[in-house]
Order: sequence, then C-alpha cells, then structure tokens
Amino acid sequence: MLIAGNWKMNLDMPAARQLAGSIRNNLEDPGQVQVVLCPPFAYLDAVYGLVHGSPVSVGAQNMHAEESGAFTGEISASMLRSVGCSHVILGHSERRQYFGETDASVRDKVAQALRHGLVPVVCVGESLKERDAGRAEKVVSDQIRGALEGIEYPGKGRLVVAYEPVWAIGTGRTASPGEAQAIHAHIRSELATLFNAGDAAHINILYGGSMKPENADALLSEPDIDGGLIGGASLQAESFLAIVRAAMRA
Ligand code: PGA
Repeated sequence: MLIAGNWKMNLDMPAARQLAGSIRNNLEDPGQVQVVLCPPFAYLDAVYGLVHGSPVSVGAQNMHAEESGAFTGEISASMLRSVGCSHVILGHSERRQYFGETDASVRDKVAQALRHGLVPVVCVGESLKERDAGRAEKVVSDQIRGALEGIEYPGKGRLVVAYEPVWAIGTGRTASPGEAQAIHAHIRSELATLFNAGDAAHINILYGGSMKPENADALLSEPDIDGGLIGGASLQAESFLAIVRAAMRA
C-alpha cells in the first residue's frame, strides 16, 4: 500500500513546513504502508529536511526528461535525487491538459526517472466524455502502453501507477469502489501483458480523484486498489493521516 499526497500548486513555505511537520509528528508506525509527500519544487528540500529519518518519503510533481542543459524553468531527475526525492508523479492529467504532455513525453520521463532511481508514479485516467462513450478502458490502456512502451520491469516497488479519472479530480465526485476496481483490474492485466503477471501483482496501483477519509476504507478494501494519490485531502494533516490509517486497516 502507498498513500501519496499531491499538494499541487498550494501553500507557502511556512504552511508547507507546518503540514509536513504535523504529518511526521502525528504519524503512527505506518507498517507496510508507504507514505509520500509531493510538495511543489520550491519546498522539496525543506520538506525532506523535516521528514528525513521518519517513515515519510518525498516526491516531486513533475520533472524534465533531459539530463541537464538549456531548459529554462525545468527540473531534472538528478536534481530531484539531490534534494532527497524518492518518487516523482508523471503524466498527471493536469500536466496533460494544461501543459501539453503526451504519452510519448511521459514515457521519456519514466525512462529518465528510472535511470536515476526515482520511482515514477505514472498517472492515467479518462475524461467524463470518454467514460460516457464507453471508452474508459481503451483510453487507460493506450496511456499505460504509451507511457511504458519499451520500459523494462524495474523491480518490486520501483514503479507505481495511479488511476485518476479526470472527472473525479478535485470535483468531490469519486468513482465508486466497484467502478475503480474494474479499471484497476484492467490496468493490472495490461501491466501483466507488458511485463508478466507476477511482476504486475507487485506494482502498486493507486486510486486518485476526491479520495477522502469518508470513502478511503471502501476504495482501499478493493483487491486491486493498492493506495491513493490524494490532492485536496492531503492539504490537512488530519485528513491525510486518516487516509493513511485507512490504508493500514485495508
Ligand atoms: P483530488 O486530486 O484528491 O483533489 O481529487 C487528486 C489528484 O489530482 O492527484
């Protein structure tokens, strides 16, 4: 199980420090549950300094696929490693929607993250229009195949997938546990085709899209839901920790 908080473009430095500190101080031993905080780039170093030595890890929300060079405004995999990141969210639907990311660019970033020992959290998910047209599974399959084409299985725990139906992100509308489970099982079977069934069984597939303490238990008890990528509810220590506890129960 893995619970990751995606802070998106929120908080200032004092608030970021307070949130990270409060999560660290109030987290009971999470056991088998991995806990990852993904603050904006500007706070990575500070958040890492606060959680280092605790069970909490740090991830970024994006990165560039190139090693270094003339890419104004961009951040590389080795930079992320050098400030303590273990994970990086790639291909979030907001990146695809507002910043022109494609399956091909996500794939290049996945390869680069893996070369640097970062665990990519590869995001996929259909829009409402695609779901209503009965195309959710096809869209998600294409995204998975596009993002992982030619990528070798990196080993247990080295790759994470997040299913985030676009219509559920930040809308308060959540996929029902059954709807989410159906797509998660489908994703796992795609991963089994790309790698093999044994390896696919060890890839954490997170659900994201208005996950909160009230719906976390039901979602996380589904067999193919291995955690959550939490946006809004990750901005308060209390609600984020309640979701971590739900993962511990699942
Ligand atoms: P949300 O965001 O929990 O606010 O819906 C999830 C995400 O976009 O990662």
